[in-house]
Amino acid sequence: MGIAYFEKDRIFKLDTLHTSYLIGIVDEEGFLGHIYYGKKVSGHELGYLLRTDEPPFVPSRNERDRLSFLDKFPMEYPVHGTGDFREAALRVRSKEGHKACTLAYASHEIFSGKKAIQGLPASFAGEGSCATLEITCRDAHLGMEVVLSYSVFEEEDVIARHVEVVNRGAEGFCLEKVASMSLDMDNRGFTALTLHGAWARECHMQRRALGKGYQGIVSRRGISGHQDHPFMALMAADATRESGEVYGVQLVYSGNYEVRAEVGQFDTVRWQIGLESEDFSWTLEPGERFAAPEALLTYSHRGLEGMTHSYHDFIRRHIIRGKYRDRKRPILINNWEATYFDFDTEKLLSIAREASKLGIEMLVMDDGWFGNRRDEHRSLGDWRVNEEKLKGGLPYLVQEVNRLGMKFGIWFEPEMVSPDSDLYRAHPDWAIAVPGRTPSMARGQYVLDLSRREVVDCVWDQVEAVLKSANVEYVKWDMNRPLCDLGSLGLPAGRQGELAHRYMLGVYELQERLVTRFPDILLENCSSGGGRFDAGMLYYSPQIWCSDDTDAIERLAIQEGTALIYPLSAIGAHVSDCPNHAVGRSTPFETRGYVALAGTFGYELDVTRIPQEDRDIIPAQVALYHKYNDLIREGDYYRIASAAETHLYDCWQVVSGDRGESLVTWIQVLCGPGRQSHMVRLKGLEPCARYRVEGAGEEPIEVSGDALMYAGLRIPDRKGDFVGMLFYLVRV
Ligand code: DGJ
Repeated sequence: MGIAYFEKDRIFKLDTLHTSYLIGIVDEEGFLGHIYYGKKVSGHELGYLLRTDEPPFVPSRNERDRLSFLDKFPMEYPVHGTGDFREAALRVRSKEGHKACTLAYASHEIFSGKKAIQGLPASFAGEGSCATLEITCRDAHLGMEVVLSYSVFEEEDVIARHVEVVNRGAEGFCLEKVASMSLDMDNRGFTALTLHGAWARECHMQRRALGKGYQGIVSRRGISGHQDHPFMALMAADATRESGEVYGVQLVYSGNYEVRAEVGQFDTVRWQIGLESEDFSWTLEPGERFAAPEALLTYSHRGLEGMTHSYHDFIRRHIIRGKYRDRKRPILINNWEATYFDFDTEKLLSIAREASKLGIEMLVMDDGWFGNRRDEHRSLGDWRVNEEKLKGGLPYLVQEVNRLGMKFGIWFEPEMVSPDSDLYRAHPDWAIAVPGRTPSMARGQYVLDLSRREVVDCVWDQVEAVLKSANVEYVKWDMNRPLCDLGSLGLPAGRQGELAHRYMLGVYELQERLVTRFPDILLENCSSGGGRFDAGMLYYSPQIWCSDDTDAIERLAIQEGTALIYPLSAIGAHVSDCPNHAVGRSTPFETRGYVALAGTFGYELDVTRIPQEDRDIIPAQVALYHKYNDLIREGDYYRIASAAETHLYDCWQVVSGDRGESLVTWIQVLCGPGRQSHMVRLKGLEPCARYRVEGAGEEPIEVSGDALMYAGLRIPDRKGDFVGMLFYLVRV
């Protein structure tokens, strides 16, 4: 078990394979201090890091300077209002309106495995794969109990933290902020790395040195958002892609969040992640319990690469569930970019007929099949098949698709309602809105108030009826606008601050119903591309559509950023037609295939209308998918070169767990005269082994692992725009 309590020294020590995390109980009052998190240490005698034998000392020794102690001590879970003026993890308002709070250690429990978190997505443990420490702290004045939970996943070097607050008092109080994790450390010249973006430009890596004071990222959109991810890495001054110290944290949550780093007066860093706190409040009546989302904390002394490997392994083993977790996903063809709203049964079947001949395995019918949905302006909420478009209904279409040997998938946007819909006409009060104000429309639609049970049930009944009516084997769950005008008729005035979080609980409940009731359906989440790409969503769907930008070159940065923390098996990626609909660029069909192979792989085009020479390439791409997908899904991912840095090419590699196989993808972004072949230094191979290297249409060669890693793999110079090459290495 990776957790020990040293009674005499009052120290908890949490160990993973390569990291240690130490917490100490200090003074008679039971302050909980953060001692250390970093590279694994053998002993536990690190209490000196708390600096309690220096002025101002602990309050029992120097009550005069209690405030100086509170404002300096590295708190494990800092609270607001009693003298620690740095950012608090917990802010509570009593019934009388006071905000002062203290937390003292009360008890703890250590056990094998981990508990589920009521209503929220969270990591789960396999047999013996984790142990949990729960430390209970108390504020006697409020009658509040705070349970700090640490689940230690030794093999993946991840500590999953979360917090629950229980009202054991006689009066209600209001939670104004409940961070999922707080970490106090000495500053090591940290740079913050985040995944910044926009619609169709998701997940661009952004680095900025931490300045003194306060900085961070936030989502107030009701979704985790295109603009940033609920994630931050802190890189020590000398950290690189492959070396140095990197701390990572991400939230298993899909709604409003904040990640904050505060560099204090003594050059310490306080780092937090959790629910966004400005728009949040939650009333906790006596006996009630509030659970904050889970945070996944990791530390790597092998640069960003170590963090990436920890997160990939962790998400694949302890977040993603269901039948498709460890399986190849069917190669799909989606009709969105092929037809947009303009399709009928015959059009879809013509795509399916051609696709089935080429080896594509599933047809996905996207937006436009329900109600009177002929454009964006209507029918969301009316999940009934439009039989004018789909003559013979869904059963006929699905049966015909199945007859071709293909599976069938369908698109929904269950969280939304169009003003022009039967649902809205019947229940205008079901849309999120402030009474008396007209809510802002986005993409011509409103958001349903999923904090209300009757709304959740109505949406579910409709979705379930469609899924029951035919042999549907895949669902794309879309969500195309953020939340604003927050008001719910289901909540009293004092609880309106709960809406955004209650909305997410409603979404999670719907998706839980879907995966429980239809365990064989492959679920793919989507939010105008990657607007809600996070570990919370991955708990329900093993894959997420990662961007509406399907251009192979734009996708390089988007998929590089996404793959920094999420496994390739989760990244929705398709080959689309050119000129690309998002950016107007034309790229070789082969290159589009190589980029999509580094994700779930599929097609998003009208296969009956693309050029014959492109169509002819599809069977070979399908064969590549079948040959390499196990390796891509399960292997260790290495970033070799980034087009953002080289300005010439992008390169990544996947290596099998036993290091016997590897796939290298190289994409040229700039060509021109006066160039020669490129040498790219590979990673993760066995130095003494010999590998047979095949690719780029050249004669296979045999090279040792060390030569490939230290000298490099030769990438021949090729003329033409956006040439891509794939190299397959196998140990001989
Ligand atoms: C946004 C998604 O990202 C697209 O793939 C497509 O499903 C459209 N919505 C449909 O409205």
